Amino acid sequence: MSRVFSGIKPSGSVHLGNLLGALRNWVDLQDRAETVYCVVDLHALTAPQDPAELRASTLSLTQMLVAVGLDPDRCTLFVQSHVHEHSECAWLMECTAAFGELRRMTQFKDKSDQAGFVSGGLFTYPALQAADILLYDTDEVPVGEDQRQHIELTRDIAERFNSRYGDTFVVPEAVVPPAGARVMDLQQPDNKMSKSEDSPQGSISLLDEPAAVEKKVKRAVTDSDGEVRYDVEAKPGVSNLLSILGAATGRGPAEAAEGIERYGDLKAATAEAVIEMLRPIQARYHDLADDPAETSRLLAVGADKAAEVASATLERARHNIGLLGR
Ligand code: TYM
Repeated sequence: MSRVFSGIKPSGSVHLGNLLGALRNWVDLQDRAETVYCVVDLHALTAPQDPAELRASTLSLTQMLVAVGLDPDRCTLFVQSHVHEHSECAWLMECTAAFGELRRMTQFKDKSDQAGFVSGGLFTYPALQAADILLYDTDEVPVGEDQRQHIELTRDIAERFNSRYGDTFVVPEAVVPPAGARVMDLQQPDNKMSKSEDSPQGSISLLDEPAAVEKKVKRAVTDSDGEVRYDVEAKPGVSNLLSILGAATGRGPAEAAEGIERYGDLKAATAEAVIEMLRPIQARYHDLADDPAETSRLLAVGADKAAEVASATLERARHNIGLLGR
């Protein structure tokens, strides 16, 4: 059975891009693979965090993942910092990745241009991500388009390690969905959708009330040409709405355009599809949020299951690279 691993950062609210680009695939893969999913709190530390808020968002993100459809009986769901092998393996990855490779990561370039404080961790972040993936002998990594470059780097690191020190790691593949892999900001359709804290009107949080979703979609930037047609280059705003409508209703974006002639109708149909998709997720989330002790319990079970696999892989890597055993 193939092994799947993926992660999501607990910084800010979970948004529609996370759901359509990654989380829906995470849920579906539970039926046909051995799945391991991680709330990557160490990755959130690359930017300064409020400690109490970080703890709260780690818990609430876990609840959201269960609300979206992860079943802790069928997948391994855990918090990255609970399995110390991630940080240890990250050092081996940092020493296997080339400085030039890390410098070429577009996410580092984008984020370091925007951030006031650029931590060393922001630069070495992809090495920690490689450790996350490789510790689980992962075959497939379900992610949105923006993570493709990090998965390519993970493959290069695994291949280099294997050729230097002998067969150690499985070389993984990215799994990117055909629709929804790159959901764009509703106000700036040339930028990808990111957390609503950074773009309150451009991002739809999975916890947005129906009225908020309607308002944001209604105000989404389109263009003055008036034709409902999928053309990302010429019509990024309209195309983004078509992608969202398509992904929310199980169709491709061009197919979603059929029968819709006016922007107003496109927006109404998109808002309705999103609201209906979020309704059951929000209901489950609110039930789970009432019981944080149960969430902590399931995370403890998840960390034990994860550590079993991670410690065996790390031991193999430690040995192969030449660290002396005790
Ligand atoms: P993160 O937390 O930014 O995002 C989680 C997942 O959501 C996807 N995503 C999107 N998909 C479509 N459209 C968007 N606008 C959009 N925004 C985000 C991301 O591609 C991702 O799949 N570095 C990772 C977390 C990570 C990880 C890992 C992922 C750490 N270790 C190991 C895979 C495997 C990140 O910051 O994702």
